[in-house]
Amino acid sequence: MEHFFVLDGEKIPFTPGQTIMDAATTAGKYIPHLCYKEGLSAHGSCRMCVVKINNRHFASCTTKAADGLIVRNRTHEMTEGRRTSLQLLFVEGNHFCPSCERSGDCTLQATAYEMGMLTPRFDHFYPDRRLDASHPDIVLELNRCIQCELCVRASREIDGKNVFALAGRGMASHLIVNSETGLLGDSDFAATDYAARACPVGVFLKRTGNYGAPIGARTYDERAISTQATTASGADHASDVVEDERRALGEVASELETAR
Ligand code: FES
Repeated sequence: MEHFFVLDGEKIPFTPGQTIMDAATTAGKYIPHLCYKEGLSAHGSCRMCVVKINNRHFASCTTKAADGLIVRNRTHEMTEGRRTSLQLLFVEGNHFCPSCERSGDCTLQATAYEMGMLTPRFDHFYPDRRLDASHPDIVLELNRCIQCELCVRASREIDGKNVFALAGRGMASHLIVNSETGLLGDSDFAATDYAARACPVGVFLKRTGNYGAPIGARTYDERAISTQATTASGADHASDVVEDERRALGEVASELETAR
């Protein structure tokens, strides 16, 4: 029996056990996300992927797909909520995109463009964050950390090292390094670790070889993130969805009926 749910008016097939995010990504549909990455355990902390089901909000990266679900993703309401979350993220850290090596390759920046964020909106906190230049190959630029914990999970689940963790709460929450001194250079981190590549922003800076791709030729310079963050071809683009849910629901109901 084929399983499917409805995402913004389109039927999305899934295999039992898949999350809404996994199934949507496999089907080439973009659900905005920051703390989700294929191959790593889902965390559900950034809330960028929150969708609406039956008038309630769920993180699509941790919510299992189920037959007949009607999921709202790219609606004006969801886009506005995501834009506000992004505006908060931009003032909670120190993000100076024009001078950042990851500009054009940054998931945070690309998602902000995708959600139509034009201004910071809130006052900047300008938190006092440190920069760790103790490692021979990588500088840890903690001003840009959005605490998605992708490096934490990548180090633990892929690299098998457990180099990173989050400490503190609220505004005091920050990334720490698992070494006696707390410095990256004294840990067993290597520049080739997946933890560095999993970072969606510009925290892990190579000491050499930056700016290899000139501005204009970077990942998101010409194509929006919504057209790239999927595993299938023919991904949909960012326009807010005008849903025909009743039609889709009717199709779902009749196909479920046929399958019985
Ligand atoms: Fe789902 Fe962050 S991507 S909560």
